[in-house]
Amino acid sequence: MKLNIALLAGDGIGPEVVDQAVKVCDAIAAKYDHEITWKPALTGAAAIDAVGEPYPDETHEICASADAVLFGAIGHPRFDNDPSAKVRPEQGLLKMRQKLGLFANVRPTFTFPSLIDKSPLKRERIEGTDLIILRELTGGIYFGERGRKDDNHTAFDTMTYQRFEIERLAKKGFEMAMKRSKKLCCVDKANVLESSRLWRETVQAMEKDYPEVEVSYEFVDATAMRLIQWPKGYDVIITANLFGDILTDEASVISGSMGLMPSSSVGSKVSLYEPIHGSYPQAAGKDIANPLATVLSAAMLFEDLELTKEAEEIRRVVNKSLAEGIVTEDLAEGGKSYKTSEVGDWLAKNI
Ligand code: IPM
Ligand code: MN
Repeated sequence: MKLNIALLAGDGIGPEVVDQAVKVCDAIAAKYDHEITWKPALTGAAAIDAVGEPYPDETHEICASADAVLFGAIGHPRFDNDPSAKVRPEQGLLKMRQKLGLFANVRPTFTFPSLIDKSPLKRERIEGTDLIILRELTGGIYFGERGRKDDNHTAFDTMTYQRFEIERLAKKGFEMAMKRSKKLCCVDKANVLESSRLWRETVQAMEKDYPEVEVSYEFVDATAMRLIQWPKGYDVIITANLFGDILTDEASVISGSMGLMPSSSVGSKVSLYEPIHGSYPQAAGKDIANPLATVLSAAMLFEDLELTKEAEEIRRVVNKSLAEGIVTEDLAEGGKSYKTSEVGDWLAKNI
């Protein structure tokens, strides 16, 4: 198969981890006879420095006409402590999600056999966890009206949802549940928020179309607790943008490291694949960041293109590297650790 993949390395550790995923994808392409053309494009602080905005039109054109987008990370500390900054790297990510119509963010949580005891959570609680948090990605409080009142003592961000936004996300959730354990949990704050009551009403109305799916409803504060208490109780979770952002960071603890969790963002056109971690500026340029979340995101890319063998091969080699201790320092527990680039080379060589 011929594939055009837009390559958005972004900021911080983004370029380093993306480089390793490219090595792995190229090794897969060589083994299974595909032809990948990488189309690098600017985003984030790197794009602000080069052309003054975090998601330039040229980058959008490259993404919109690609078969898929592989994304690293976005964010730079020089903006974090400057609330007055008008142009911020994160705006690039939000603009990209919106312009590409990526309304559903698929964030799986699973465990790795060789890492179970590295999680701060007890083995019996987490072993066998296999859940997906489906986060709404182009609406809610991330995109609602925000601003300051004239006196500059009041600021506001609004959470708005329209029925169609909830429906299209929930539809994906139901469809995913049908292919899995047929359990769907809608997570909201319907005891307080009107937008959450619209979520519940909308999902309840859809239940009849999926009679085999067992649907439950939970308040997000309770889910935050149950998710680490008994993650095996969940199959597919659907939730609003901000709730999903928070719950997915929490869920990454189950697998042992944030450096391991992949994601895909899907809509009606091109899909985007990215690790759930951020730009980790403290590690940028040091060749120490864990590249596996990005490598596993590439596995999701192949899976979505129905290149199942390719996806399985990536997962196999990742599991092998973990089992053999070919790991970056976040997983080494003071033992021998490998550089980001060494892990990437090892994975490519073992494909
Ligand atoms: C994520 C990140 C982003 C988000 C930031 C960088 C804007 O935390 O992808 O989870 O909040 O969506
Ligand atoms: Mn986040």
